[in-house]
Amino acid sequence: MHTKKYYITTPLYYVNDKPHIGHAYTTLAADVLARHLRSRDIPVFMQTGTDEHGANIEKIAREKGMEPKAWCDGISADFRELWKTLNIKYDHFIRTTDAAHEAGVQAVFEKLIKSGDIYLGAYEGLYCSACEAFYDEGELKDKNCPIHARPVERVSEETYFFRLSKYEAPLLEHYAKHPDFLSPRYRAQELINFARSGLKDISVSRTKVAWGVPVRSNPRHTVYVWFDALLNYATGPGYNPDKISPDFPVLWPADVHLVGKEIFRFHGVIWPAMLMALGVELPRKIYAHGWWTINGDKMSKSRGNYIKAEDVVKDYGVDALRFFIFREVTFGQDGDFSMEAFHRRYNADLANDLGNLFSRVMNMAAKYLDNRLPEKPADSETFSELTSWTPGIHRSMEALQFSEALEKIWQGVSTLNRLVDTKKPWEMAKANPAALKPFLHEMIWCLRLIAGWIDPFMPDTASRMHLQLGAGKITPDGAEPQKVPPLFPRKQDEKPKDIRTN
Ligand code: MSP
Repeated sequence: MHTKKYYITTPLYYVNDKPHIGHAYTTLAADVLARHLRSRDIPVFMQTGTDEHGANIEKIAREKGMEPKAWCDGISADFRELWKTLNIKYDHFIRTTDAAHEAGVQAVFEKLIKSGDIYLGAYEGLYCSACEAFYDEGELKDKNCPIHARPVERVSEETYFFRLSKYEAPLLEHYAKHPDFLSPRYRAQELINFARSGLKDISVSRTKVAWGVPVRSNPRHTVYVWFDALLNYATGPGYNPDKISPDFPVLWPADVHLVGKEIFRFHGVIWPAMLMALGVELPRKIYAHGWWTINGDKMSKSRGNYIKAEDVVKDYGVDALRFFIFREVTFGQDGDFSMEAFHRRYNADLANDLGNLFSRVMNMAAKYLDNRLPEKPADSETFSELTSWTPGIHRSMEALQFSEALEKIWQGVSTLNRLVDTKKPWEMAKANPAALKPFLHEMIWCLRLIAGWIDPFMPDTASRMHLQLGAGKITPDGAEPQKVPPLFPRKQDEKPKDIRTN
């Protein structure tokens, strides 16, 4: 029996256009959490990928004069390229066009037809082709799609229905028994109210959409994209009702599905009902985060209002971006991205607070300690104090309270900066050389602690710090630490370039 791995997922991104910072946000959060857990020797499985079927994607591909699959190959590769640029390490990248996934979707559909949870009927409703979803009259905003503000169409077609109504009571019971299932709590009530208001069966197949997974027993129908895409969380780690892979029980249930708030309902209502119908255990938690705007406006590719992560990385480095998005906004809430705010934090938190502290201590160490890693200080007040913060920081990370963790870490950075300012080691060197060494030893050990804490957010910076601090895995204790360039060179205070693409 293998130990269960901690299984983290991101949504599968639509391949209708190239990725932007909004997409990067969820995947970075998954990476930060995964790196944190791995650093505590907790085995992790992190899955991300692309959502490739549906009328929308087919239309876009055709407009570009391409076959849908060839189009998907290109954009899916762009996503993987961006994850590489952002130093994101996933264990599995799933595409809804993967043969194993498609086979899993088909097998699920047949199983549910057999059990009666999927049945054939006819649908008439208001459809938004951009959402690939149906709306009730009451859900529209000024008669338009509430998300895209575009007209909806009245559509009538033969369709398979999923018996969502049957799962209303079991879902409500599950929410009540597992208060953390829908997180954060302040986003849960809306879903609970929605489920309480009476769940209707939903349409889960299309006869007019060719670019999709065909229903095996009735190939005039293709599986509705959301039904197809949600199943990735199970098919990725090996679920297929015809033949379950031995990996599946090692990975399932998912420990956390990270999603944006706009798709919380699909994940918090429909997905668990699908799993109940299949008799598969439910995920432990679904966590919905907020949305980023840019300079106060909605991020939108079509309106040219978005930030390319690659551009920020080119100018400021990948770690600065990874730091900013988790420091600036509480994970869960909405936030605004502006290059001004980014630039300000870069100079204040990274160049000044952390970068200067590190170079001040390392310069002193080079001068007075022969650059050798000292023994752990025996009785050191600051080091003991900071060490005692570790469990709290771990708790914040586990609860996905990334900004809270970073705030605490920066409290540590400030404590060390204050200590250098008040103890003035450069004066100590002359006035009290005996006290200088233990002081620097303590600072070095405190910085090692800080490097460990920031590692999930800023892995490159942490390993550069460790390298110079002569730490653990990279340089065996006592070995000659290596010189590294400044962690965060200060940027000119001129108005930063407003990086966006039109
Ligand atoms: N394909 C569906 C998800 C299927 S999951 C089984 C989808 N894809 S999407 O490409 O639209 O990406 C959705 C996710 O990208 C959001 O849930 C969110 O995680 C992320 N974001 C996209 N834009 C964003 C912002 N402006 N801000 C924050 N996150 C955003 O929905």
